[in-house]
Amino acid sequence: MAPSATRESEGNLAAASPLSRIADAASPAVSRVGAWTLHEYDRCTSTNLMAAGLPAWNAVRSSEQSAGRGRFQRTWVSDRGGLWLSAVVPTQPGTPKWRFLPLAVGLTVCEALASLGVKTRLRWPNDVLVDRQKLAGILIDQFIPQLAVAGIGINVSNRPEDRDTALHGQTTSLASLLDEPPSLSELTRQVLERLQATCTTLETDGPEALLPRVNGLWQQRRTVKLDLDGREVRGGFEGVDAQGRLLLSPTDGVRQIFEPQDVRLLREID
Ligand code: BTN
Repeated sequence: MAPSATRESEGNLAAASPLSRIADAASPAVSRVGAWTLHEYDRCTSTNLMAAGLPAWNAVRSSEQSAGRGRFQRTWVSDRGGLWLSAVVPTQPGTPKWRFLPLAVGLTVCEALASLGVKTRLRWPNDVLVDRQKLAGILIDQFIPQLAVAGIGINVSNRPEDRDTALHGQTTSLASLLDEPPSLSELTRQVLERLQATCTTLETDGPEALLPRVNGLWQQRRTVKLDLDGREVRGGFEGVDAQGRLLLSPTDGVRQIFEPQDVRLLREID
């Protein structure tokens, strides 16, 4: 078993009085994980927001989030026991390699989970599923042009369906898939070390180097419905190209290519 990350407390006031405990709870514990500086909170609003002001190669984890953010402005239920993690990575806006980042982060999470014995699949762009149930979600925020915040939420031993009954049957967790789910620190280490490697490959070798691994994660070809902001297109999802564009083969057999920013939503219909 790999050693867990060393910790050093940013606040050294952790002493007797209730007031100092409150103050201490608001200070993150800071440690190193590979190239990353990791800031760990007991509770915060959203790790993506906490990471917004940090430089590249910093990461934020929180045991719970009071205002976890999902895609499409949805709330992300972030109860204790899950991994709520955000990593700040350098970007070069407008370049093909950085348009590939959402897919690269999905790849990272799937490969980290595979190393722990959980076989997952991707649903475009980067929902991490087991069969049809969501195990992990990814939200990439860009608060300033040079940096992206990759927010990663993985259900571990938390039970989001207890907080939001609409999630019954929609989600799964590592605790229900494995006899012994990993600790949050082990999972954090797995994800961050792999994310560093994936980002380095993307930077040095470009998206082509990651493409076969990403396209191996969609599993069988599924019929999907694309919402192109009002217009609807159906077809067989064939994966992505090195520019991160979606490849769809409609029923007439002619392949169509869609820019990711034009696709509001992809729904699987088989
Ligand atoms: C989705 O809608 O599928 C994306 C969910 C992303 C959730 C993660 S949890 C860590 C980070 N902080 C947030 O507020 N959101 C992301």
